[in-house]
Amino acid sequence: MSFALKELLAAAPGEAYELHDRYLNRQVPRLLRTLGTDVTYTRGEGAYLWDSSGRRYLDMLAGFGVFGIGRNHPVVRQALHDLLDAELADMVQFDAPLLPGLLAERLLAHAPGMERLYWCNSGSEAVEAALKFARRATGRPRVLYCSHAYHGLTAGALSVNGNREFRRGFGPLLPDTQVPFGDLEALQRQLRRGDVAGLLVETIQGKGVHVPPPGFLAAAERILHEHGALLICDEVQSGLGRTGRMFGYEHEGVRPDIVTVAKALSGGFVPVGATLARAEVFEKVYSSLDRVFVHASTFAGNGAAMAAGLATLAVLTDDDLVGNAARRGAQLQDGLRQMAGEYELLSDVRGRGLMVAFEFARPKSLALQATWAALRTVRKGLFAQMVVAPLFHDHRILTQVAGDHMDVVKLLPPLMIGDEEVGWFLDAFRAVMDDAHRGRGLTGPFARRMVGNALVRYRR
Ligand SMILES: Cc1ncc(COP(=O)(O)O)c(C=O)c1O
Repeated sequence: MSFALKELLAAAPGEAYELHDRYLNRQVPRLLRTLGTDVTYTRGEGAYLWDSSGRRYLDMLAGFGVFGIGRNHPVVRQALHDLLDAELADMVQFDAPLLPGLLAERLLAHAPGMERLYWCNSGSEAVEAALKFARRATGRPRVLYCSHAYHGLTAGALSVNGNREFRRGFGPLLPDTQVPFGDLEALQRQLRRGDVAGLLVETIQGKGVHVPPPGFLAAAERILHEHGALLICDEVQSGLGRTGRMFGYEHEGVRPDIVTVAKALSGGFVPVGATLARAEVFEKVYSSLDRVFVHASTFAGNGAAMAAGLATLAVLTDDDLVGNAARRGAQLQDGLRQMAGEYELLSDVRGRGLMVAFEFARPKSLALQATWAALRTVRKGLFAQMVVAPLFHDHRILTQVAGDHMDVVKLLPPLMIGDEEVGWFLDAFRAVMDDAHRGRGLTGPFARRMVGNALVRYRR
């Protein structure tokens, strides 16, 4: 047999960017080169990554949230080795295998009010199922969504995406049903039309990290139910401990009818997603033998995803990572809030648990205003990029700008971070803020290159 993955990995690390240039979305390597972050990572463990030169990076992105328990967790690795060794009779399709049932039982036990579960392979797929289930359960066509919402990029999920930049050029989508995030009157007006199946809402919005206004979700639940419509909570990013509770909706004291989950569920090893619901919803969707496969997916509930999910849930609970997310989140946010009092460019710190953002705003002092205004002229959100860049280049920390044209930086670290990682981040951020307030960092060679590149991109 001539195939050996180990040899491929050892022989070709330098080739990766060229392969992406040639065969995949070439804008990705182009963007990374523009930012100067075109690093080849070779190993990951816990909250850390190493590049091909052996340099260590602190990962405050966690693969957009999939590495909740940290990278390459030994318990999940062992479960996957054991699964392969078991040579399971997987995906027979005409059978009722054990692992999907076991993981459903354990996940539902953590999700107050949820009774049944549909397995799928991504967050977007979980949302697609939620849209269809809500329509079928109520017999109504329209699912409302909120401004700035992000529920994925498949056609149905894109129809309920509140960010225009994703939708442009892909229409026509489902009829538009947006309501402003937090606006109960707008929700009431839509509900009075009598054709609303439900409201799909993130319990904390991923784009920009916006917590719902106090009481909004509880009031929304009440009026949705008064009108016979469903509350659908998208917990793809906020679920599984990220916010310091197992599910974000627990902070709001609401009982949703449908909940979507994905990302962190398999410890970052295998694509997985789930749509949880009250039993009544399932009775409507799968109402007869004729409808047995009315919504399904070939890989749903596959052994690898389920084994990884069972191991991940065990790690989450055994290591109290949900409690750790609450404690470390408070430590991180307290440290950042303290700095908001010291640095005039830092205007807001927000989030829940380890879903955290900080925002920059126009400074008061004239000296800083000139640089701020210059960056703004080039592109909104460029200042935040000027913070993400030195965090990466000078301090080897991965962070991200929270959305297009936003002066917001988002942190989504693994839930297992400790004192060392929080300290590393806060010290680095303080150094970056010191530089920014002294005018350094904003005028250095890197900043000049970024502005130049942004201008070029802007003009194209
Ligand atoms: C709240 C939310 N819903 C849905 C999705 C889509 O998930 P996926 O990228 O796995 O399709 C995401 C992805 O970031 C998300 O944050």
